[in-house]
Amino acid sequence: MKQLLVSVRSFALKLMILMAFFTPSDCFDPLDPNGNITVTFDVLDYPQNGGYVARVTIRNFYQYRHVEKPGWQIGWGWANEEIILKMAGAYATDSGDCKNFAAQKPHCCKQNPLIADLWPGAEGSTVEGCCRSGVISAWAIDPPLSFSAFEITVGNLPANTSHPPANLTLFAPGPGYTCGPVQDTEPTVFLDYGGRRKIRAFRTMKSVCTYSSFLANKAPVCCVSLSTFYSQQITDCPKCSCGCRDSASDGVSCSSSQSSSLGGNDVEKLQCTDHMCPVRIHWHVKNNYMRYWRVKLTISNYNLQRNYSDWNLVIQHPGFSKKAITYSFNTTTLPTVGIEDEVALFWGLPYYNSELTEAGAGGGFGSVTTDIILEKDLDEFTLMSGWALPRRVYFGGEECQMPLPDAFPMLPNGGFRIRHERRYFFFLTLLMIWLELRL
Ligand SMILES: *[C@@H]1O[C@H](CO)[C@@H](O)[C@H](O)[C@H]1NC(C)=O
Ligand SMILES: *[C@@H]1O[C@H](CO)[C@@H](O)[C@H](O)[C@H]1NC(C)=O
Ligand SMILES: *[C@@H]1O[C@H](CO)[C@@H](O)[C@H](O)[C@H]1NC(C)=O
Ligand SMILES: *[C@@H]1O[C@H](CO)[C@@H](O)[C@H](O)[C@H]1NC(C)=O
Ligand SMILES: *[C@@H]1O[C@H](CO)[C@@H](O)[C@H](O)[C@H]1NC(C)=O
Repeated sequence: MKQLLVSVRSFALKLMILMAFFTPSDCFDPLDPNGNITVTFDVLDYPQNGGYVARVTIRNFYQYRHVEKPGWQIGWGWANEEIILKMAGAYATDSGDCKNFAAQKPHCCKQNPLIADLWPGAEGSTVEGCCRSGVISAWAIDPPLSFSAFEITVGNLPANTSHPPANLTLFAPGPGYTCGPVQDTEPTVFLDYGGRRKIRAFRTMKSVCTYSSFLANKAPVCCVSLSTFYSQQITDCPKCSCGCRDSASDGVSCSSSQSSSLGGNDVEKLQCTDHMCPVRIHWHVKNNYMRYWRVKLTISNYNLQRNYSDWNLVIQHPGFSKKAITYSFNTTTLPTVGIEDEVALFWGLPYYNSELTEAGAGGGFGSVTTDIILEKDLDEFTLMSGWALPRRVYFGGEECQMPLPDAFPMLPNGGFRIRHERRYFFFLTLLMIWLELRL
């Protein structure tokens, strides 16, 4: 009996430790569970002399993760020694060795071509959806610009033949994406004559690529700091959120002076801070009115040599279930399934603050800011227990480090109670360990 008890207990303990280490930000994002980038090959023609013509579409279904400069690159392995005879709307970065096909003047003869987008106005930029330098918008922010497309003519194949490419890789940009196998699906139906005529592709093959911040980043990229009108206390980002100032951490250097004699070119250069994050999000609870409350939201860039164009910010907070007015950012709420709080997405206004500029070398930082007025749900609204503070924050699709609840600004009358389960969880774990030791 006792043995059973011990084994049940140790199982529970292992489970809890496992749960504490498994952060959902790896692969599965609870705020965007269906997000993916889908790559589609639509075979549109089988020319008489062999091979095929296909339209390749890279469609971003991530609500708030975009493909930024320097843009996407996509690669694959040909299964049957195919070559690319022609390409429109994109280019292969290396033609490879084409001497065996000299008469056909192919575009690329490599067995594992790597393709990149053309720039606006480039020669051959006639394909619809092409030529935006590989930049793709997030689905929830700008659906018409959330895809990229190009056309390929594939040769060195018998007539009426096509094979799915193998080992698709997507750099969007850099690592982080993992693509599944290219598989046949229902042929795509295109509309012509302004929607009056349907044209079915001969064959449609698809691969779904998903992002993992674990694969892409070594350290977190952002952290959250908090303050309120009801407390003197300013809760800074947790120390060493993204790295430690004094440790010679790989790839990051920091500068507190005007000197430009920082490390090599591939080193990320940051303003020195205790959190060492490239980006900090500050949430200030500014006013408490009868039926409304007001928050000031500020995003600060500590990079000395990096601007964030088309930045976006995701905030999970129950207060967004009511009407909110955001003054200086564009915003929308995201559909959420199985999340108890509402999730709001923010991004900059064009020509005003859609670019988060780099920090000045003198010690300042680049920043964008807005006030938000939220209507109160009188049953729910409270200044107690840190309710008015955000639950979860993402910048550019990456989850930001939050301060622990016991560091949150407190109401002066001590009416602060920790509502987060994290502390109970901690005590429960301690209790379990203690029990384990005693037995
Ligand atoms: C990819 O995203 C689309 C759109 O959200 C969704 O319909 C599809 O099921 C997703 N695919 C996978 C494998 O998650
Ligand atoms: C795909 O990758 C596997 C493993 O790296 C390799 O053996 C195979 O030859 C590749 N296939 C193609 C068509 O490049
Ligand atoms: C906000 O974003 C939407 C979607 O991209 C856009 O249609 C709208 O014009 C933007 N609003 C402002 C004020 O820029
Ligand atoms: C390819 O298909 C077309 C139409 O079905 C047919 O007329 C042609 O003979 C085929 N070519 C070969 C080489 O099989
Ligand atoms: C960032 O933007 C500023 C102002 O627009 C510009 O002067 C600077 O060169 C940009 N920095 C980089 C690294 O592109």
